[in-house]
Amino acid sequence: MFSPMNKPISDWKNQRIWIIGASSGIGAALAEQALKAGAHVVLSARNAAQLQLVAQSSTCAYVVPFDVTNQAAWTTAYQQTQQHLAKIDLIIFCAATYQPELSWEINATSADRTLRTNLGAVYTGLATVLPDMVAQGGGGIAVIASVAGYFGLPNASVYGPTKAALINLTEILYSDLHPKGLNVYLINPGFVKTPLTDRNTFTMPALQTPEQAAAAIWQGMSAGRFEIHFPRRFTQVMKLLQLLPYRWRFFLLERFLKTS
Ligand SMILES: NC(=O)c1ccc[n+]([C@@H]2O[C@H](COP(=O)([O-])OP(=O)(O)OC[C@H]3O[C@@H](n4cnc5c(N)ncnc54)[C@H](OP(=O)(O)O)[C@@H]3O)[C@@H](O)[C@H]2O)c1
Repeated sequence: MFSPMNKPISDWKNQRIWIIGASSGIGAALAEQALKAGAHVVLSARNAAQLQLVAQSSTCAYVVPFDVTNQAAWTTAYQQTQQHLAKIDLIIFCAATYQPELSWEINATSADRTLRTNLGAVYTGLATVLPDMVAQGGGGIAVIASVAGYFGLPNASVYGPTKAALINLTEILYSDLHPKGLNVYLINPGFVKTPLTDRNTFTMPALQTPEQAAAAIWQGMSAGRFEIHFPRRFTQVMKLLQLLPYRWRFFLLERFLKTS
């Protein structure tokens, strides 16, 4: 009935993709699946040895390690990425850090690191790549936010607000960049088993593997979706909770968290 919000991608062969946060979890699974489909992929994160492990199966994989919180490093990493790919068809902002904490457990140093990694670095990355992408009039920007950004959840005192900000930012990016011919994707995963969520001590509902998450993301992009959220049996419940008046939402959250 409605046309897709982004241009569907029918063939991933020879797509030139830069994945930031590709050394483990969802980013590594995205890289592996893209490489299998014949894409050329630059893999970035801090852990060079781990990136090499992910890249080793393909001659179309290039490793560009850097720390996303270092602004100057973005310029060098972008130059190296351009040398490998010439032009970027898709950049995926996947790097993040997470420290479970209740509000009275907030540590200022750790909060600053989370804000700079999850949010500040996306601004530095956008400032680095967008002028060229807008000039070329094509390409895609994908931001991995989270259902933790839909509304305030206990234990995510710093992580949650970074993801809420990313959702807001990606909506703005779509308004600005879609008319200029760019694709913009907002990716909101539910729980995925990765080093990031291994820090959680509670039972995570509807937990998926990184491979399932990556498959859902590639499928969503191929179909030209704007928001790609999964698994739907979990994300639809979160969307419903988001719509509820505060009184009801807090009541249900308190009940659910007490009994889980
Ligand atoms: N797992 C979930 O349930 C879930 C749910 C919703 C959203 N997400 C989001 O999905 C994305 C991927 O997370 P994940 O679960 O796959 O976690 P992960 O396995 O811990 O991956 C995080 C990635 O970010 C990189 N990274 C962290 N700090 C960095 C820095 N300063 N500079 C460069 N790279 C950095 C890590 O590599 P290095 O340590 O080598 O730098 C790693 O490659 C994140 O944005 C996360 O918020 C995850």
